[in-house]
This record gives sequence, structure tokens and C-alpha cells, in this order.
Amino acid sequence: MMHHKTLSVMAIKKSFYIAFYFILATFWLPAAGQSTHFKHGVVVSAHPEASAIGLEILKAGGNAIDAAVAVQFALSVVYPNAGNIGGGGFLVYRPAHGTPVTLDYREKAPARASSDMFLDPAGIPITQLSLDGALAAGVPGSVDGMVQAHKRYGNLSWRQVLEPAIQLAKIGFRITEKQANELNHFQERFIALNPGGSPLTRQVPWKKGDTLRQEALAHTISLIQDKGRNGFYVGETAQKIVATMQQAKGIISLEDLKNYHAQWRKPVIGTYRGYKVISMPPPSSGGAALIALLKSVEAYALSRWGFQQDSTVRLIVEAERRVYADRATHLGDPDFVKVPLNQLLDSAYNAGRLAGFSFEKASPSSTISAGAIAPVEKEQTTHFSIVDKDGNAVSITTTLNGSYGSGLFVAGAGFLLNNEMDDFSVKPGSPNMYGLVGGTANAIEPGKRMLSSMTPTILEKEGKLYLVVGTPGGSTIITSVFQTILNVIDFGQPIQEAVSAPRFHHQWLPDEVMTEKGAIAADVRKKLQASGYVIKERGSIGRVDAILVLKDGILQGGADPRGDDKASGY
Ligand code: DON
Repeated sequence: MMHHKTLSVMAIKKSFYIAFYFILATFWLPAAGQSTHFKHGVVVSAHPEASAIGLEILKAGGNAIDAAVAVQFALSVVYPNAGNIGGGGFLVYRPAHGTPVTLDYREKAPARASSDMFLDPAGIPITQLSLDGALAAGVPGSVDGMVQAHKRYGNLSWRQVLEPAIQLAKIGFRITEKQANELNHFQERFIALNPGGSPLTRQVPWKKGDTLRQEALAHTISLIQDKGRNGFYVGETAQKIVATMQQAKGIISLEDLKNYHAQWRKPVIGTYRGYKVISMPPPSSGGAALIALLKSVEAYALSRWGFQQDSTVRLIVEAERRVYADRATHLGDPDFVKVPLNQLLDSAYNAGRLAGFSFEKASPSSTISAGAIAPVEKEQTTHFSIVDKDGNAVSITTTLNGSYGSGLFVAGAGFLLNNEMDDFSVKPGSPNMYGLVGGTANAIEPGKRMLSSMTPTILEKEGKLYLVVGTPGGSTIITSVFQTILNVIDFGQPIQEAVSAPRFHHQWLPDEVMTEKGAIAADVRKKLQASGYVIKERGSIGRVDAILVLKDGILQGGADPRGDDKASGY
């Protein structure tokens, strides 16, 4: 149900927002990654302007869901490489009173999709097709997700929570240095994929402090503001999506759009050292894999061994190797395949998986199972965490999949389409852009959701809210959330330290430990190599945005210094 306000109130609100954003755009360039404590509410997101909007909504009497909707739309404006209305995501909500729920607004394969749509006549995957342009896009879920979340839990009007994003798109905002570099890096791709031009291309290179205005996007969000889901899934926007499909040889139809609905699902729930872990069920592999990882290491004395010490790293790597092998085989969209969730979450099962593991020698992945290997590419998704004054908590991870998704803009509508189709197993055993392999459980079928690693998670301690956490990072998402939780629970780190700490990752295949610089000390690294571990240093892993609730109820925000991320609260 849409709420309406009188025109004059809207006009006053609008001029307030205009003044607000003018001030922001003029004076505020981000101070990223700082530690922060707040009494009432906090928003931690990938962009300072999105965090500021979430905070304004909280202060205006909005609850965590109102702020989450405002932040999702704001990120589609200020963080176009992952923030989106043309993609999808997962929401985990723990109300202060009542039952935790999750909302699956993951994209779906269009009705005309088929299991061999990305294979050449010889059955070899044509990688580019699932990554670039129209065929790579799944039917977007973000708008329906936000409409449903707001309808069920929102407190402020729909109009009010969308207004800041519209103003931000209209008036523009100052881009950060990281954003300028990214936009310049992707210029050629935008030009190649959008012959009619795109809102993010221009003649001269982008530089820090430039203003990015997006009139067409402002118009599209206004339609959604006026008409709710019908502003996107039918009428003008839907027609623009389909026209873009026709021009770029895609297959999303008006029917696909009309039929898209986000899905409420029961969270996966587990325990770790007495804490309750509430996370995303399939079609994400994230929650199940996270709980399996925690269960795998629970019996061991991590806190005695210490943070990133020899035994700690070995145990974590061996647990990750085994859990990712399971992920590849057993997980897919539960609306299409039977997922053996109870077994995957079982303590005894996970302890048993580690039974053959030795602290002396790496277990080669080929003895766990077999498969192909692919390079890891640059990844983009975004996570945000919100707690409001009443203690309601939201954890959302949302994505276009790769950076700027398919690179294809919906002509005249100002937004990018995702390339989420690459998250399907394009061919059993053949790796996707994250090097992840999959089997038939994650094969392409019309109307099916592609398997995800996104792991928005909330932890409880003694029945009370304790931690809100999540991250982007493709296949590394699960292990980054896992390690952040260990940093807090086992190694007693304050949230900013837990978020900033260098991370490492193993995903079964390729059979190597990927590390950030400084993640594994030189002496530990030498011992691991002597035991048969292949260790490869790579760029940053994840961008965790988290909130920890301290004993006295104070909210501690942890914003990842790897990006422009920011914790804003009051
Ligand atoms: O759903 C998934 O698992 C991927 N599409 C997520 C992509 C991602 O995290 C890229 N991020 N940095």
C-alpha cells in the first residue's frame, strides 16, 4: 500500500533534501574505515552518502527496514558498480521482538533461458556471454524485494524513504578517488556495450570530486516512488528493459518482469560457542556454508592457538576446503532442487568431514574431490548493516555480480543490468568467474535462481542482538564472514580490528590459499609451504561492514578500510 503526503509537505521536504545534499556534495569527502560508537542507531555501508541517508531516515523516526530501503536505493545512485535496482540481493532481518526472517530478492533466469545457453555447438562454455551484455542478466529482484520489505515492516512512507535517492541522482554527488579510478578503468567496456552512450561514460577522465548527476535514474526511481513495483516491472521501465533486450539480443521479456516476486524464507540457524547464528538459506550457499565452517572448527582451541597462528590457519583452510567441496555439489535453488540442509548443518557431519585432516600435511583438494581451475577476477557486490533505536537489525548483501554487472545500461532508464547468470553452473565442473565449480543442482533452468555465496548474517548472544555482519567478495564472502566472526568471538577483537584484519581464503578449487598482504606471517607461511600448502598473495579480500553490540548496549560500527565504507550513527 502506497502512502501519500500533501504536495506542500513534499515540496518542503524536497527543498530540505536539496539543501542537505548540496552541503554534502560541497564539503564532505569520506573519511573511511574509522571506528565508531553510537547509542541509538547506526548504518554501515560502502559509501558515506548512503550511510548518511540511512542515518537521516533513522533520525526521522524510520526503523531499520525504512533505512535499509533508503540505503539500497541510495547505493544504486552513489555506488553503481554494485548498488543497484537492476540486480538482486538477500536481506536478513531480526526484529527486536518476534521471529527473524529472510527475504530472497535474488534474480531469476528468464523463461527463455536454457541449460546450454552459454555453450558453443561443441559444448564449450562461451565465457563472455554469461559476463557481458544482455544475455548475462537475470530478471532483477531488488525493487520487488524493497517493496515487500517495506510493505511488511516499514514505518515511514514509501515516498519518504525513496526521496533521498531521487534527489541524490538529480543533484549529483562528488565521486571519491576510488570511484574515479574505477569509472576510468571501465570506460572501454561501457562504450563497447552501450553504443547509444551511458550515464557513466564521458570524453575526459573522471577525477576525485567530480559531480555525477543521473537524471534518467532519478526519473526511474521516481516512477518506482509513484507506482511501487509497477514502476519497474510493468509500464515504462519494463518496456525500456525489454527494448534494451531486443537491441542487445537478450531474452528478458515483459512476462518475466511481471512474474518476478521476491520470496520470504526461513533463515538457516546454527550455534557457535553458545552464540546463535542467523543467516541466509538457499539459494544462497552462504548461511549453510558459514554454519558448516563454524561447526567444523568449534571443537578446536582457536583462542589458545591465537589469531593467524600456524594451527589456526591450517584448521581454517582445511575446513574451508571441505565446505566448498560440499557447496559445489549439493547446493542450488530450493524451489527447484532438494538441498540436504539438515545434514550440511549437522555438527557430527561437519566434525566427521575433518576427521582425516592432519596438522602435519595439506590434504590435496584432489583427494576431497576433483574439478577444474580458473583465475580469480575482480569482484564487486556490496553489504550494509543497520541497527535502529529499538534494536531491530538488518543485514543486506546486494549485487550486480561483477563490477558494474553486465556493463549494459537500460537505455533511457539510467541503470545497469546484472550479470548474475554467471553464478549458475554454466556447465557441470566448469568454473565461473570466481573459479567456483558446480554440478547439476545449480544448472540453468527457466525461472530458477542462481546459487549465491552472499552471507548477510546476524548473531545473538544470550537471546540478545550481538553482531550484524556481511561482505562482498564473490566466493570469498563466506570465508570473510567466517573469519570476522572468529576474530570477534575467538580472538576478542573490537569490531573495527576484526573488520580491518588481513584475511585469507581457500575454496577447495583452485587448491591454493589466497592471502591478502600481511595475512599470514612469514614464519607461519614457511611452515605451511613445507607441509604442501600453495600460498598465493592477491589483492584485497572482501569489504566487511559490521555492527557489534557491546555489553552496555552501545553500538560499535566497523567500516572496512579497504573501501570508502563508513559507519554513521547517533
Ligand atoms: O551471489 C554471489 O555469490 C555473487 N554474485 C556475489 C558477487 C560478489 O560478491 C562480487 N563482489 N565483490
